Amino acid sequence: MTAPHISLTHFLIDEERAGRINADLRLLVEVVARACKRISIAVGKGALGGVLGDAGEAGQASINVQGEAQKKLDVLSNEILLEANAWGGHLAGLASEEMDTSQPIPDKYPQGNYLLLFDPLDGSSNIDVNISVGTIFSVLRCPEGVVSPTDADFLQPGTAQVAAGYCTYGPSTMLVLTVGSGTHAFTLDREVGSFVLTTRGMRIPEETKEFAVNMSNQRFWEAPMQAYVGDLLAGKEGPRGKDFNMRWVASMVADVHRILTRGGIFSYPLDSKCAAKGGKLRLMYEANPMSFLVEQAGGAASTGRQRMLEVQPNGLHQRVPVFLGSKAEVEVAVGYHLRHDAA
Ligand code: AHG
Ligand code: MN
Ligand code: MN
Repeated sequence: MTAPHISLTHFLIDEERAGRINADLRLLVEVVARACKRISIAVGKGALGGVLGDAGEAGQASINVQGEAQKKLDVLSNEILLEANAWGGHLAGLASEEMDTSQPIPDKYPQGNYLLLFDPLDGSSNIDVNISVGTIFSVLRCPEGVVSPTDADFLQPGTAQVAAGYCTYGPSTMLVLTVGSGTHAFTLDREVGSFVLTTRGMRIPEETKEFAVNMSNQRFWEAPMQAYVGDLLAGKEGPRGKDFNMRWVASMVADVHRILTRGGIFSYPLDSKCAAKGGKLRLMYEANPMSFLVEQAGGAASTGRQRMLEVQPNGLHQRVPVFLGSKAEVEVAVGYHLRHDAA
């Protein structure tokens, strides 16, 4: 007998019957997954779809709230997610990397109880060179009694997330999801058009010999990060007593997907170029959803000094240093920071 074929819909129905999610959250995940299929199609068309390159008029780049030039696919993916999520009645509001402020659901549609945050297209610098990109999302509850949520209502710590996931648009399109009971991977069956459960309960190996960091920033890092990576590079002869391998895709989704699959540590530490902003990666729609997924797979996630999911956010687009992946390795990296601070 062949293994049972469990679609995302089937999986979510089972989760609902087990009392782990309600019908609204099921719909929400289905809608996000459907939007990701549309983004996957656009990404897959590449140059043939006219979707490569920068957004905005010739010579006049379109700049988002982060001060970053938007790509056509950043804008298109944001529109796809907004349009898909407006009418279902499951959401009270949305927030995105590509929008200055959060948006309540238009009055003409019923309001739901959830807040959705997303990075519509992660790894934008890889779009034009045909390397994996992705979508990241995080789901929070709308605070009780709030009818038209504002940014302040989104500022909940990562521990308050009820669901999180990402979709990776690589050689295959995959959706990786947690609703708080494990991290599960689904692969898109392109002919059928549905996501099929391919790994139930992903587990990140505790120990690793692989790290992911943008080494070109080395001279800008803080002392404890310099010391930590210095010891990794020293290999067998150094204090760690083993040789490490390094990978850096520059799409967080792709790097985290590798770590969820075979272990490793991902870091985007504080450096003197991004220190004034607090880091490079965004807490609410990059670090928190990825940290939830990683913890649910037995890994750990930290700012280097604090468990990521316990950071109290102070802004929708707040940035943080990130260390996540294999539990024992994240603890080693955190140790360098804590010992440095205590000295
Ligand atoms: P985005 O494309 O959504 O702005 O995110 C890019 C992020 C992340 O995906 C990646 O890990 C990191 O930026 C890469 O940064 P560098 O180009 O500095 O290596
Ligand atoms: Mn991103
Ligand atoms: Mn992005």
